[in-house]
Amino acid sequence: MARPVTVHVCSACGHSSARWHGRCPGCEAWNTLVEERAPAPGGASGARGRAGGGRDGVPAGRPVRLADVSTARVPRLRTAIGELDRVLGGGLVPGSLVLLGGSPGIGKSTLTNMALGNLAAAGHRTLYVSGEESAAQIRLRAERLTGATAGALEVPVLAETDLDTIVATLRAERPEVCVIDSVQTMHAADLTGAPGSVGQVRETAGRIMQVAKADGIAVLLVGHVTKEGALAGPRVLEHLVDCVLQFEGERERTYRTLRALKNRFGSTNEAGVFEMRDSGLVEVLDASARFVAEATGKPGSVVLAAMEGSRPLLVEVQALVSPSELVPPRRVVNGLDRNRLALVLAVLGRHAGVGVGNADVFVNVVGGVRVEEPGADLAIALAVASAARGVALAAAHRSGPVACFGEVGLTGELRSIGHPDRRLAEAAKFGLGGVITPETAPTLRQALRAVLASPAAGRAAA
Ligand code: TYD
Ligand code: MG
Repeated sequence: MARPVTVHVCSACGHSSARWHGRCPGCEAWNTLVEERAPAPGGASGARGRAGGGRDGVPAGRPVRLADVSTARVPRLRTAIGELDRVLGGGLVPGSLVLLGGSPGIGKSTLTNMALGNLAAAGHRTLYVSGEESAAQIRLRAERLTGATAGALEVPVLAETDLDTIVATLRAERPEVCVIDSVQTMHAADLTGAPGSVGQVRETAGRIMQVAKADGIAVLLVGHVTKEGALAGPRVLEHLVDCVLQFEGERERTYRTLRALKNRFGSTNEAGVFEMRDSGLVEVLDASARFVAEATGKPGSVVLAAMEGSRPLLVEVQALVSPSELVPPRRVVNGLDRNRLALVLAVLGRHAGVGVGNADVFVNVVGGVRVEEPGADLAIALAVASAARGVALAAAHRSGPVACFGEVGLTGELRSIGHPDRRLAEAAKFGLGGVITPETAPTLRQALRAVLASPAAGRAAA
C-alpha cells in the first residue's frame, strides 16, 4: 500500500500545497504552512458520506435541552499530591487531556512520576510513556522517589516515540491514567516533519485525545517550553486540551510554582508551591513562614503580601542600587515584570523624589518565586527607595520587616488591588503589622514617608 500522502496547509488562509514553502503561495505569509495528513480519497463528501436522513446523506444531529443533559459526577482521580490536585480542581478527570508545560529540568518528569506512583499505589491502572529517557533511566529516578511515593516502582513504563505503537498500547492496556513525556518527542510515521514540529505535535495530541476520550483515559501531556516562556510547539495545543498547567521557577532555585493557565474543570486562579529535594518534589505549605523568617530587614528589603492564585503568599523583594558607569544603566529584575520596574522607577523619580537615573538597579524576588501582579509595584518602589537611601524600612512603633502591597499609578497615587483582606490576614498571621497599603497611604510619597524615617526621606516627602 502506498504511504499516506500529506499536505501542507497554511494556518492563515487555508491554502494547501503538496510541498512545504517558507512563504505561503496563497497569502504570502511567512512560516504558516503546517504539515497535515491528506484528507481521505473522495474529498469532503466521501469522508462525510454516512447513511442517514439529512441533506446530502449527512444525518442530522439531535440537540438536547440543557435541563435534560445528565451531569453524573465523575469521580476524580486523586494524585495524592495535594498541590497538584488543587491546581487541577480536585484531581484528574477521566478522559481529559492535561498539558503540563515547563522548561527542561524544572521537574515535569519527577512530578508526573510521583503522581502515577501514588495512583498505582491506590490501585489505579497507570502507564508512563517516555520518548526522552530509557526504561532504566526512569527506574533510577523512580528509586529516588520511593521514600515519599509508595508505588513509584509499580508504574508500567513504555520507552517509545512511535505514535502508532503508543496508540496501540493505550488501546491494549487501557490504563486509567497515562503520561506522555514529552509531546515533542513523539513521531507520527505518516507525517514527514521532524518530532516537535507543529504538525507532529498537533497530530500526536489529536490522536492521543481520540483514544483518551473513547476509552476514558486521563492523559497528562508533558511539553517543553522555550526560554521566552511561551508554550512553543505545544502552544498550538492550548485550545485542544482541557487544562494547561505551567510549572515554573528556576532550575537552580529550590522553589517551583505550578499554575493553571486554563482549566475546563476548575479555577485558573490556583497555584501550588513545590520544593525540589533529593527524594523528589515536596509541597511547600508554609512558604510565607519561611520567606518572612528569611527576610533580612536590611536596606533594600521589603515583604510583599502577594497572591498565588487564591492563596496569599508573603515573599521578600530585594533591591540594590549602585552607581553605574553604563549608559543606559543596568535594570536587572528577577521574578517580576521588567516593564513594571521601568514604570515604578519613572514614578519614583518624577513623583517621589527618588531618582536613580545614574545607577544600576537590581530587583529580585527571593526564592525564585515569580510575582506577575501589579500589586508588586509598591514593593518594588519601597525596596528601591530603601536601597537608594541606604536606610532600612521601618513601620512606625514596630520592629521587624515591613510588609506592603499596592499598584503604583502614573501620577504617583497608590491603587487598590484584589483580596486586600486575605493579604492583610496573612501578614498578621506572621506578626507583620503596620502593612503599607493604598488605604493607609494614598500616594507613593506618603508610603515612603511612613517607612523611610531618615532626613533624606523627609526631604523627598517635603
Ligand atoms: P526532571 O523531572 O527530569 O525535569 P524535567 O522533566 O522537567 O526536565 O528533573 C529535574 C531535576 O531535578 C534534575 O536535574 C534532577 C533533579 N532531581 C532532584 O533534585 N531530586 C529528585 O528526587 C529528582 C527525581 C530529580
Ligand atoms: Mg523530563
